[in-house]
This record gives sequence, C-alpha cells and structure tokens, in this order.
Amino acid sequence: MSQITIRGGKPLVGRIELKGAKNLVTKAMVAALLGETPSVLKDVPFISDVEVVARLLQLHGVSISHDPVTGDMQLDPSNVEQARMVDIDAHAGSSRIPILFCGPLLHRLGEAFIPGLGGCEIGDRPVDFHFDVLRSFGAVIEKLPTGTRLSAPDGLRGAKISLPYPSVGATEQVLLSACIAEGKTELSGAAIEPEIIDLISILQKMGAIISVDTDRVIRIEGVKRLEGFTHSALFDRNEAASWAAAALATGGDIFVGGARQVEMMTFLNVFRKVGGAFEIHPDGIRFYHPGTELQSVVIETDVHPGFMTDWQQPLVVALTQAQGLSIVHETVYENRFGFTEALRQMGAQIQIYKECLGGHPCRFGQRNYNHSAVISGPVELKAADIRVPDLRGGFSHVVAALAAKGTSKVTNVQLISRGYEHFIEKLESLGADFEFEA
Ligand code: EPU
Repeated sequence: MSQITIRGGKPLVGRIELKGAKNLVTKAMVAALLGETPSVLKDVPFISDVEVVARLLQLHGVSISHDPVTGDMQLDPSNVEQARMVDIDAHAGSSRIPILFCGPLLHRLGEAFIPGLGGCEIGDRPVDFHFDVLRSFGAVIEKLPTGTRLSAPDGLRGAKISLPYPSVGATEQVLLSACIAEGKTELSGAAIEPEIIDLISILQKMGAIISVDTDRVIRIEGVKRLEGFTHSALFDRNEAASWAAAALATGGDIFVGGARQVEMMTFLNVFRKVGGAFEIHPDGIRFYHPGTELQSVVIETDVHPGFMTDWQQPLVVALTQAQGLSIVHETVYENRFGFTEALRQMGAQIQIYKECLGGHPCRFGQRNYNHSAVISGPVELKAADIRVPDLRGGFSHVVAALAAKGTSKVTNVQLISRGYEHFIEKLESLGADFEFEA
C-alpha cells in the first residue's frame, strides 16, 4: 500500500499533459478483438485499468505492444484463442471492463468466460442491463461460482433493445455485440457520452454501420466483417476536470494540455459559476483561481450532456472554500459520497442527505440512499491521516491534503493510478510539497 505525506497550503502551478480517456481506451482495446486485421490506438495512457485489459486480451491470443514514449498501442487479433479459465479468473475483482469482452468473444470464439468484476465501490453496480442485452442477442448465460460463462449456440442476432437507464457500459455492450451480429439492432435509451461517440467513430472506421438518431436512439446494421482501425483516443475529460478543480481548491494555476472545450462545456459553466477562471487555447485549457472569493453552487450530476458524476468529488473540495451553501445532488450512483467522511475529518462542513436536494427528484429518492450533499464554506481545511477509498474520491483526498494547513498522510494512493497516468510525477511538476513511498 503506497502513501504520500503532503505538506499542504501551496498552490499547484504548472502544466500537465493528458492522454486518451480511461473510459474510452479500455473499450477501444476490446473493439480491436472484432477486427480481422491489426489496430493502432494512439495516446493510450499507462494506467492500471489499461494493463488489466491488455493482460486479458493477451490471454486470448491478442499480441500487444505499447510505446512508452508516445503511448501508441498496436493490437494484433489474428490469433484469437480461448483462454484458460484459471488464468482469466486471476483477474477477478480488478476491473469492470471484462464484461465488455462478452460480445466480441462470442463472435470470435462462440463462447466467453468473464471473471468476477471489480471497479470502484460507489454503489451496487449491477450488470443486469448487460446480461439482458446479451440475452436479446441470443447469448446463453451461466453464472459460475467464480465468474460467468456465456455461449451463443446460434450466433448473435440483431435485436430491438430499450435500456431502462442510459447506462454507458450497457450501451457499449450493445455496440460491441451488434456490429457483426446478423441483421439490424435498434437501441433506445442509449448513453451518448463523448467516449461512446468516439467508440462509434472507431467502429465506423472498422467498417460498421451505426447511426446516432434523435432521442437517444442508436441503430446498427450488422456487417459480415470488420477490419482493424487507427485512431487517436479522445482526451480524458475526467482527468482534465480533476486538475481544474485542484487548481481552484489550492488557489493555483494549471494548464491542462490536450483538454478541449466542446466535451467540457457543462463543466466549464459550473467552474465559472463557482468563480474559477479559464482560458481556451488551441493545445489545451488553462484553469486558475483568479484571486477573488469563490461562490457556492447547486449541481446535479447526470448522464451526458449533464454534469458528470466523476467531476463532483474534486469539485466538492473546491466548494469547501466557497462562500455559502453549495448543494450536490448525485443522480448517477447511489453511494458516491463516502469520500466526504475524510473531508469532514479535515474540517469540511458537509452534510449528507437521503432526500433529492436542489434539483429534480431522481430514482434514488425515497429509497434510503445517501445521495445529496450540502457543503458549507469557506472553511480552513486542516491536515489529517486519510485512506483513499476509490479513484475519484482518492484524487479529491489528495487535493484536500494539498489545500490543507499542515502535514497529511494519504495511504492506499496506488488506487489513483487506475485512472491517472503519472500521478506522482504530475504532482511533482506542479510544485506540490510531498514525499511518496511506493
Ligand atoms: N446500472 C444498472 N445496471 C447495469 C448497468 C448500470 O443498474 O447493468 C446502473 C449503475 O448502477 C449506475 C447507472 O446505471 O447507477 C450508470 O452506470 P453506467 O453503466 O453508466 O456506468 P459504467 O459504464 O459502469 C462508466 C464509467 C464510470 C462513470 C459512468 C457514468 C467506465 C469504465 N466507467 O461506468 O467511470 O462514472 O460510466 O458516466 O467507463 C470512473 O471513471 O471513476 C468511473 C466510475
């Protein structure tokens, strides 16, 4: 378990560079399984989620190389083969991406074995939509004590599917299953996050026929075969928002190289309302604290084009420095405020409520989920010893320690490398005062 000892109170100032989005590259790597020729994915970050997916692909016979300087990844699926269950199972609990191997493996091999899933503990995170989708395509699903086995005795056939909620993962499941399924697929209630549109662009490059229609409807016409692709991955807008919030919370000034305005519009509006300043440049976005008092805001997280659930945690730290009462209503995950406990320990005034506060009633209202937060500020954060609970919550803990007076110890920080490339090096280049023990 690695840890950082942080001497807080120093603004983060400097420039960092983004690579491709964690929530796109891992799916694009799975898409490479569908191609009959090799693929090249550019700007792939060195993060542990990418490593897990690479290892699982390698177990299935995909040969992979990842350039340490450029981040370019070559994936050759010409020798796809069945992996041993025991080897797959060694990855149980390490990621949620393996569920997306189902469609491509069923197409390539006629069967698939998926290990127990991992990922951040931010709610129950069921996979019922995924399995319903796969059954609609004709998959037979058998739950085993250690994982799940799937088969498709008659191949996968296109289907008419309606999602009860615009789930990112279930939409990707449909995309990765439908492109070379027999016949047409119509998906209503689809998620339309920029990472999904980028995945659709990749599949189109491979030869797929996919249209994104009005009202969250995606239509796919099955084709006989797909080729490999060459693609530069969409930048990581979640990482961009995290560093932006870190600049605000520490009174700093960070140029986030590779960030773009269009995919971050909703975030930029909120950032400005809180009192943060930004400048859009051709090669990135500069985020900074302009030196004036920060203002409280009311935010409701939502699916795209709403305010992303992954943006709220670091921003909550900045809101502890804002004048007045801010409200954050989390409507995507039912249990994503666990990280506020450590912030309270550091002196933040944050109350968590079961009610839907400040916005519209959501599916978690009246159901005993702690999914609204009221943050009262400004307060002076003080140092504490804290433990990283999950990816985004962990980033926010480090930001709080950087903003706090005194010396904090943050343990379990290796979890942050699941989604933030070169996290420690970036902190160093931004002038943070800390010691890291691996
Ligand atoms: N849901 C179900 N059943 C399902 C699938 C989802 O009830 O079968 C529910 C979830 O429990 C949740 C909601 O639907 O309440 C939305 O989940 P979604 O499927 O959209 O999320 P995901 O695909 O598991 C991805 C990202 C998350 C990000 C969400 C929302 C990846 C690997 N993860 O998760 O990112 O928060 O979409 O945009 O792409 C992160 O990066 O830290 C992270 C958690």
